Amino acid sequence: MGTALRIDQLRKAYGATTAVDGLDLHVDEGQIVGILGPNGSGKTTTVECAYGLRKADSGTIRVFGVDSRAEPDRVARLVGTQLQDSALPDRIKVWEAVHLFAALAHRPVDEAEALHRWGLTGKRNASFASLSGGQRQRLLVALALVGKPRLVFLDEMTTGLDPQARREVWDLVAEVRGGGTTVVLVTHFMDEAQRLCDRVVVLSRGRKIAEGTPADLIDRCGGGTVARFPVPAQGRLPGLEGLPGVRTVARVDGRVEVRGQGPFLVALGHALTLAGQPGVRLDVTSPSLEDAYVRLIGEQETP
Ligand SMILES: Nc1ncnc2c1ncn2[C@@H]1O[C@H](COP(=O)(O)OP(=O)(O)OP(=O)(O)O)[C@@H](O)[C@H]1O
Ligand SMILES: [Mg+2]
Repeated sequence: MGTALRIDQLRKAYGATTAVDGLDLHVDEGQIVGILGPNGSGKTTTVECAYGLRKADSGTIRVFGVDSRAEPDRVARLVGTQLQDSALPDRIKVWEAVHLFAALAHRPVDEAEALHRWGLTGKRNASFASLSGGQRQRLLVALALVGKPRLVFLDEMTTGLDPQARREVWDLVAEVRGGGTTVVLVTHFMDEAQRLCDRVVVLSRGRKIAEGTPADLIDRCGGGTVARFPVPAQGRLPGLEGLPGVRTVARVDGRVEVRGQGPFLVALGHALTLAGQPGVRLDVTSPSLEDAYVRLIGEQETP
């Protein structure tokens, strides 16, 4: 498996604002890699430099080994990108937009099939301005893929979509990867990143502060799984502190809260059963990527 995108020591400032501050980012071919980070942390600037819309101040960017500074035209043929919504004229019709993009592409997809795949066949004669937010978003993602890019950049592709439409777009993006296209996905939705991304990179103030698989980040920063149960009305509560995997035990609002890692739930269930409390209803919450993210960003912001 090769490297689809290799960014080394990217720097980009707008006047006095340093948007990207020495970023290294490597994306393996065939993966979906998420770029996460607060507003203004340099995500869009990074992808805009990577696909050639902006010029980096320094650093190198290679797309499938091709240097973007030396051969921008070759890079342009390898990548696709989702445009911002304002980049299309209001009166352009859906089919015209797809046709225009196909005409510009080196090896375009079948236009009718693209419309069908993205659920836009019924809207083919509608103007861009008349589309709903979700339909616009689907069109913009479809346009990013019209040229059958080997690497596609999707910047906040599901913003404004209803929950069902988001899931549909997720399935389509997973399908795009299934077809061999590498995807760089900028998102503020941690559930989306957790569900779709093979790896994520977290930016803060133009620097990379964490990277790994969503599962890695959750393990490192998610705070462990929590099991809660009501303090038993009768009988005794066994000692839980020493059980394998248990990290903390606390009483919170009339409930026992046990925090731990690994197979501690098995040990907990076993101990409760032995103590004559087999019917205790455990309410288990596992940490999510969002928990890990909030913790990571929180650590950055507290000096
Ligand atoms: N064209 C520009 N001119 C001046 N400053 C800019 C420009 N574009 C971005 N910036 C600044 O660069 C920094 C990084 O912006 P960028 O758009 O890359 O962030 P982002 O991580 O994509 O944020 P968001 O999550 O809000 O989309 C911000 O401080 C922003 O104000
Ligand atoms: Mg952005």
